Amino acid sequence: MCGIVGYTGKDKCIPKIISGLESLEYRGYDSAGIAYIINGEIEIKKEQGRIANLKESIKLNEDSYTGIGHTRWATHGKPCKVNSHPHHVGKITLVHNGIVENYESLKAELKEYKFVSETDSEVVAALIDKLYSEEKDMLKVLVKLKDTLVGSYALGILVEGEDKIYAIRKDSPLIIGVSEDGNFIASDVPAILEYTNMYYLILNDEFAELTKDDIVIYDRDGNVSTKNLLTFEGSQEAAMKNGYEHFMLKEIYEQPKVIMDTIKEYIYNLDNLNEKMSGLEKYDEIDIVGCGSAYHVGLVGKSLITKYGKKRVNVDIASEYRYTEHVYSKNNLIILISQSGETADTLAVLRQAKEEGIDTLAIVNVVGSSIAREADRVLYIKAGVEVAVATTKAYICQLMMLSLIALYLGLKNNVLDESIVEEYENIDALIEEILSDTKDTEEIANSIYQNKDVFYLGRKVDYALSMEASLKLKEVSYLHSEAYAAGELKHGTISLIEEGTPVISIITDDDIRLKTLSNVKEVCARGAKSYIITNEEVLDKDLYTKVIMIPKLHDLVGSVLVMVKCQLIAYYVAKLNGCDIDKPRNLAKSVTVE
Ligand code: AGP
Repeated sequence: MCGIVGYTGKDKCIPKIISGLESLEYRGYDSAGIAYIINGEIEIKKEQGRIANLKESIKLNEDSYTGIGHTRWATHGKPCKVNSHPHHVGKITLVHNGIVENYESLKAELKEYKFVSETDSEVVAALIDKLYSEEKDMLKVLVKLKDTLVGSYALGILVEGEDKIYAIRKDSPLIIGVSEDGNFIASDVPAILEYTNMYYLILNDEFAELTKDDIVIYDRDGNVSTKNLLTFEGSQEAAMKNGYEHFMLKEIYEQPKVIMDTIKEYIYNLDNLNEKMSGLEKYDEIDIVGCGSAYHVGLVGKSLITKYGKKRVNVDIASEYRYTEHVYSKNNLIILISQSGETADTLAVLRQAKEEGIDTLAIVNVVGSSIAREADRVLYIKAGVEVAVATTKAYICQLMMLSLIALYLGLKNNVLDESIVEEYENIDALIEEILSDTKDTEEIANSIYQNKDVFYLGRKVDYALSMEASLKLKEVSYLHSEAYAAGELKHGTISLIEEGTPVISIITDDDIRLKTLSNVKEVCARGAKSYIITNEEVLDKDLYTKVIMIPKLHDLVGSVLVMVKCQLIAYYVAKLNGCDIDKPRNLAKSVTVE
């Protein structure tokens, strides 16, 4: 996620802005920039890469007292200097965090402007410049701006000839910091804790005007609004996690938002779905390749794309696939799944596929990453930066992107009707509901955290979900866990089930519900502690240690709810075991070596 820091006050602004941006580095970024007023002019410096690169191109002690800075996590346009912020158009210079969804239609109306970047942010700067040339009054401009932009934004704005900072937000975070030496804007509190812990929160569509010794906050209609001055009591580390104890928990709770960020452009406008997915129907065979969680989500994708896309789908782990012989069909597609877009084995498969002339499509989170750049096509998820090594929100967004592929193909095959998009529309609310009460998952965690082995069972897509649930548990809590095809257990592994062995069964698929339940009874008969995650009431509940109910949804979206429950179980077990949840031993966030 991008980071914003601005300052205007008695002290020189550049050191404070740079230090603030460095405090935001945990948010992940691919470029950094700063704009500052010196001798009445706005100077802009920006560089791709780390903040250290930016520091080489500026003088920290420039005689400047007002400025804005930015670290960019690319969402529109690859990471490069031209796309980095601040953007300057006419009299306006700005930094932006968020996604403006109607930037293309706005750009088409701003014909008098020549754009140099691929970003939505530069279009916003041009829009503000145009409004300013008409209104000559930034307060009127900002009132109009909020009625014009669609999407999410936090903006820090400098106007030529004015020694002040304007700030406005909607859905993207932005706070107004107050100190004796001057005033700040920042994406969140950590960026300014070194200078002050006092700040104002501005709500959606509210905006602020900052000078060296004054802050005026306005409501959405441009009337002065009084705000309570807040004091942040926590540590900088706590602030970086928005008050959550771990990044993993923060990212689990970000899932409702990022899932909608990923799917809304498609489900609310099927033309976008058709445009982005066009041509996928021509393939008769699809290989899905990834590592770890990316492989597991590919198995869920296989179930959906086979069922609705009527395609033959193979799924494999990249480290096997790259060294295995393949017989490709005439029209074969390889889908590469990678949150980081840098995983060595997955990248190797991509390069082999291109050598063999096989079409490739990547599902990636990091814009401009190697896999994103080298694949023939890329579908970006919008999970934002994922700090915790164990993926949660990126997995969920990958799952939904695969679901959208199945949706597109199902509509093409006339096995789905357009009304099916309603199933996607309140998935965020359903996840919010699960997150609002985690007692059931905490109870299971309390019951299993001291066990040596935990089994996850499932059939069909529930087996695929079990694999990811088991990996989550292993990698953050260090408990040994194994996911097993429920029907396969009796062919050997059931010998491991003894009195008190925890077995968590995922049962959401109607076709094999009873079959899986009989497998559950088999392990119960051998003394297992049996937990069930299901979307339909089970009879003889007393047989089981605990049953977790989730809403019954269409299988295009239902898997998401199962996984949120499993993520929480893994998190709470790890917490009880006192593990280093965000940085588990031996693990790296991106495995860029074989
Ligand atoms: C996820 O919890 C794991 N840390 C790991 O399996 C990860 O999914 C795998 O390394 C693939 O990473 P990628 O998605 O960045 O390619």
